[in-house]
Amino acid sequence: MERVVSGIRPTGKLHLGNYFGAVKSFLQMQKDYDCYFFIADLHSLTTHPKPADLHANVRSVLAEYLAMGLDPEQCALFIQSDIPAIPELYAYMNMNAYIGELQRSTSFKEKIRSQADNVNAGLLTYPVLMAVDILVHHADYVPVGKDQQQHLEMTRQFGNRFNRLYQVDYFKEPQAFSFSGELIKVPGLTGQGKMSKSSGEADTIIFNEDDEVIRKKIMRAKTDSGPTEENQEKAVEIQNLFELMALVSEESTLVHFEELYAKCQIRYGDLKKQLAEDMLQFIRPIRQKIRETERDDAFLSKAAKIGADKANESANKTLKEVREIIGFRKFY
Ligand code: TYM
Repeated sequence: MERVVSGIRPTGKLHLGNYFGAVKSFLQMQKDYDCYFFIADLHSLTTHPKPADLHANVRSVLAEYLAMGLDPEQCALFIQSDIPAIPELYAYMNMNAYIGELQRSTSFKEKIRSQADNVNAGLLTYPVLMAVDILVHHADYVPVGKDQQQHLEMTRQFGNRFNRLYQVDYFKEPQAFSFSGELIKVPGLTGQGKMSKSSGEADTIIFNEDDEVIRKKIMRAKTDSGPTEENQEKAVEIQNLFELMALVSEESTLVHFEELYAKCQIRYGDLKKQLAEDMLQFIRPIRQKIRETERDDAFLSKAAKIGADKANESANKTLKEVREIIGFRKFY
């Protein structure tokens, strides 16, 4: 069976971007593929979380994954730090990643700007750790949003380079995957770019948030003064609202507002009200499930244990083979 691997950093509660960029594909794939989905807590150390926050964040992402429908009996659902083979393989793969290429990665350049006071070595070698997450399970597919595309290219490069260095045909080339056929970028509400954990509260629709908070965020989303000519091209912030609507509203609702826009008859207040209601309809059952699952300690711990066992089995096998390929031999 073909393998699938993907992860999410536990640096906050899951948002709409995580769902449509990643989790929706996870849900579709878990039945038909051999899936490994995880919480990337090692990755989150680059931002120096407090120990108690780290645990609470991992716990809430685990509950959210389960509430959204990931089934621990169908896929390996695990926490990255439960898999010791990952940091070990990361040490080996780091020898084979070059400073220049790591410095050129878009995400590293972005971090230099956004967290200039904490440009640590872990940020630089982040793509190596991510490659290890994927290669350690010999993934064929990696369901991710568009923002992770470059990391996937780097993963293929590191795997191929290992193969060349040791003259083996060991790691395969994983491909990015999305349920919709093309990688998704869910826009934020402020018109600046993609919805993300770091782009700020006002930009992000979080599942585990109350109706009023979500409504307010949508009603405050930036708009312009409205189209003045028929079929006018939309400004980015308007386009974003339509894109969000396409994700959660009925097709006929979207068509209705598209037509109003094209005829210069649109009232953005109505559009946002409709979007907020459709968003809440979409979010409410998931949120309800999240809140139930968060209280179920026994379920969380059982799920994490089953996942860790499955993932360790696969990762330890890879580690053993890699150590042999590299040339480590025991003297005793
Ligand atoms: P992270 O935690 O930032 O995001 C988790 C997943 O959600 C997707 N995503 C989005 N997709 C579309 N539109 C958005 N606005 C949006 N925001 C987030 C991301 O593309 C991602 O799929 N480095 C990864 C975590 C990771 C990983 C891995 C992923 C670590 N190791 C191995 C896949 C395989 C990250 O920071 O994602």
